[in-house]
Amino acid sequence: MGQTLTEKILSDHLVEGDLTPGEEIGIEIDQVLMQDTTGTMVWLQFEALDLDEAQTELAAQYCDHQTYQFDFKNTDDHRFLRSAAGTYGAHFSRPGNGICHNVHKENFAAPGKTLLGSDSHTPTPGGLGQLAIGAGGLDIAVAMGGGAYYVEMPEVVNVRLEGELPEWSSAKDVILEMLRRETVKGGVGKVFEYTGPGAESLTVPERTTITNMGTELGATSSLFETDEKTKDYLERQGRGDEYVELTADDDAEYADEIVIDLGDLEPLIACPSMPDNVVPVREVAGEKVEQVLVGSCTNGGYEDVLPAAKMVKDQEVAKHLEMIVAPGSKQAGEMLARQGWTAEMMAAGVNVSEATCGPCIGIGHVPASDSVSLRTFNRNFEGRSGIEDDNVYLCSPQVAAAAALKGEIVDPRDLADELGLDAPGIELPDKYDGSKTDLIYAEDAIDDELIKGPNIGEVPLQDPLGSNISGETLLKMEDNITTDHIIPATSDILKFRSNIERLSDFTLSRVDETFAQRAKDAGTGVLVAGENYGQGSSREHAAMCPMYLGIEAVLAQSFARIHKANLFNFGIVPLAIDEETYAKIEQGDDVEIVDDVAEAVESGQEEFTIRVNDDWEATANLHASERERRILTAGGKLPLTKQQAEGG
Ligand code: F3S
Repeated sequence: MGQTLTEKILSDHLVEGDLTPGEEIGIEIDQVLMQDTTGTMVWLQFEALDLDEAQTELAAQYCDHQTYQFDFKNTDDHRFLRSAAGTYGAHFSRPGNGICHNVHKENFAAPGKTLLGSDSHTPTPGGLGQLAIGAGGLDIAVAMGGGAYYVEMPEVVNVRLEGELPEWSSAKDVILEMLRRETVKGGVGKVFEYTGPGAESLTVPERTTITNMGTELGATSSLFETDEKTKDYLERQGRGDEYVELTADDDAEYADEIVIDLGDLEPLIACPSMPDNVVPVREVAGEKVEQVLVGSCTNGGYEDVLPAAKMVKDQEVAKHLEMIVAPGSKQAGEMLARQGWTAEMMAAGVNVSEATCGPCIGIGHVPASDSVSLRTFNRNFEGRSGIEDDNVYLCSPQVAAAAALKGEIVDPRDLADELGLDAPGIELPDKYDGSKTDLIYAEDAIDDELIKGPNIGEVPLQDPLGSNISGETLLKMEDNITTDHIIPATSDILKFRSNIERLSDFTLSRVDETFAQRAKDAGTGVLVAGENYGQGSSREHAAMCPMYLGIEAVLAQSFARIHKANLFNFGIVPLAIDEETYAKIEQGDDVEIVDDVAEAVESGQEEFTIRVNDDWEATANLHASERERRILTAGGKLPLTKQQAEGG
């Protein structure tokens, strides 16, 4: 039987298991990437594992999320990251050089290789045939030490693209259409493989917009076959020799097929405050807009900013509104500047920023209270922009630029008629010629020992799993709680990312401000949540901080993939409960796991009995592989890996 492209790449990297969907597999990792907010912990964990040097073919550390220096903490973190990259043999991308996914795509992403990254949008280079997966930092540290990465074998779904995009529609509309149809849970346990004539018609930057936002579908990864367009892109980046032709077999069997005719797509927009809340732009036209942001790892490339720049050239953005363009990389920013586009945008009233994630996680350019902000980003979870009462819409650069000119949401086709605008289309440069001054290659490292400032703390360690788990339900939460709810990524909080003792004070503060203090007072406890708990980023702090506060189990109707792995990695037992149990259990209830927990976890027991308020009982299920059970029993992945290294 023929293989899908995903199966081919996984077969080439398989070290444990077979390719049965739903079963755990271990794979070898060729490349790892880290960004600044998760990277400090990766390196502290790497240090705690007593490892000498990165064993992967390539490791790259980026500084992109928090590039503004408000006080010494971020600067200290960046210096620590540079020193760690130098000490352990990783490339280092300086603050301002751009967003990890953009810079990685430009410089290192390679077809057929595996990439593991401590950021949930790591699947971005799937657009050039790299199988890339987001994971928690500890998984990255272990992979960088030469260990396998373990993941549930995903189902592979074929997304067949027919036709060609009409003028004014873009790759963003393809992925918004996927979100409209499949929702933020539709990709859980799946890899989406894009094929067909429509896929062939898209350039690599368009493909990576789609693979980037596969994360919003909850997918393990997204992938395109490679072809002349891939080769051409790599050649323009000066890396043509890295091209490898990769296709699925003609008789490959997919778990499912989704068909999208690109010709049918009109400009779409995701309304507040979920990426799957998608409607045609015309449905919300007329809504007053106060802020427009073009950038991010989804639409921050040269090819993304250029259409917006072409549209605003010789025009003026509405006076009541601020339009900000933050290129995704310095390569993009430098090229736009050299070609005069930056000046054109500035003349039109656009504020051009440094290359950073920044506003995507509420760091800078926070919208005004209760106002509408249109963004070309990938997430619009409530409060992520840095203010609770935000109204963030997600759209393509074309739709964003149209709104900036009109001052309200408008379908760019309608504005084009009004202003006589030409459809900007998509245009690749003959050659990507940004300078590399902000990349410090491993071989040119300037540090050979770790530099730790006072804000760099210790990696907390959990005791091995005990036989008893009981405590108060410290918080009952709803469906779709994100990692942003658990540990917000705003600048006032993120600056403590390397200091778990301080950071844990903010745990779940967006859900209940008293939570951290109550957890500290109680010393132990459990959390209860609805469906899809922990969706969003790969932030392992969202498991590490609850662990630090003494949370021993999370009872949820379902868990997001990366967060569930992070719960195991930090010794928190993730138990699945049914709808009835969820409805019955209240915040403040005392929950006791009746079974001898350590023994039950070790012996492979799946069903656990929970007793609530000494009054009623229910069943909770532990869906865990043998390996995950070993991790839980040891108190987490770090203690287990250390034990193994010591021969224990
Ligand atoms: Fe950065 Fe936002 Fe992407 S935080 S990595 S631009 S999702």
